[in-house]
Amino acid sequence: MQSSTKTFALSEMRLLKSIKGSVRILARPMIRFLKPVPPNLLEPMSRRWGFERGTPISRWYIDRFLEANRQDIKGSVLEIKNARYTKSLGHEITHSDILDIDRSNSDATIFADLATADQVPSEKYDCFLLTETLQFVFDLESAIAHAHRILKPNGILLVSVPCVQPRDDELAAFDHWRFTILGCEKLFAKAFGSENVTVEGYGNYAASVGMLAGLAVEELPSEALTIHDGKYTTGVFVRAKRV
Ligand SMILES: C[S@@+](CC[C@H](N)C(=O)[O-])C[C@H]1O[C@@H](n2cnc3c(N)ncnc32)[C@H](O)[C@@H]1O
Repeated sequence: MQSSTKTFALSEMRLLKSIKGSVRILARPMIRFLKPVPPNLLEPMSRRWGFERGTPISRWYIDRFLEANRQDIKGSVLEIKNARYTKSLGHEITHSDILDIDRSNSDATIFADLATADQVPSEKYDCFLLTETLQFVFDLESAIAHAHRILKPNGILLVSVPCVQPRDDELAAFDHWRFTILGCEKLFAKAFGSENVTVEGYGNYAASVGMLAGLAVEELPSEALTIHDGKYTTGVFVRAKRV
């Protein structure tokens, strides 16, 4: 290469480098500007599980779980707080009870703390719908032992518990737990025997982030709810059979 051509090539390379550098420097604030940063990271879209925006994500999963097990919701059924699922999904219902620790609940037919529920007769129910309640009970082993005791032989316990969920402010004084799949497998196996317990984790990264952000089901694409990713479980669901 002739020396004049070499000099030209070198200066051209330097020029290119300096243009690249300037573009990079100029682009940095631009990229920052274009990034979709949420308006306020410290404030969720809803503090009420997205109720005012649509269907809460946790409720959508509970509905799917109970619909998948609706064949179990029959005969003598116990539910917590109200008879929502006994009425909507039950069949051949012979008796319906509603248990609550809250004495102001006019729907309740039994007032009891599930952890010390000795007044509930043994072997009374074919099905116990225990949704979104165990996180409020400190003595889980005792509560699950009572759930087992009050079921008839072949009776079924259907449970939902949160893995990722904001605190319920009204029940903040009782909000003790969040659950994992493994924790539930061990907890329920103690009372029911592992061969009689099925534990499933529902949800994924989008659903878990959505839960905390207060997004509603209607704001997520449906495939974002039906994929279950165990690394980011949103809710845990248990079916346990008393043998
Ligand atoms: C968030 S509500 C869930 C109820 C309903 N099954 C559902 O799926 O929406 C929780 C209920 O559990 C009741 N609860 C809290 N601690 C309890 C305990 N130790 N024993 C029995 N019920 C309890 C509360 O009073 C409340 O009615």
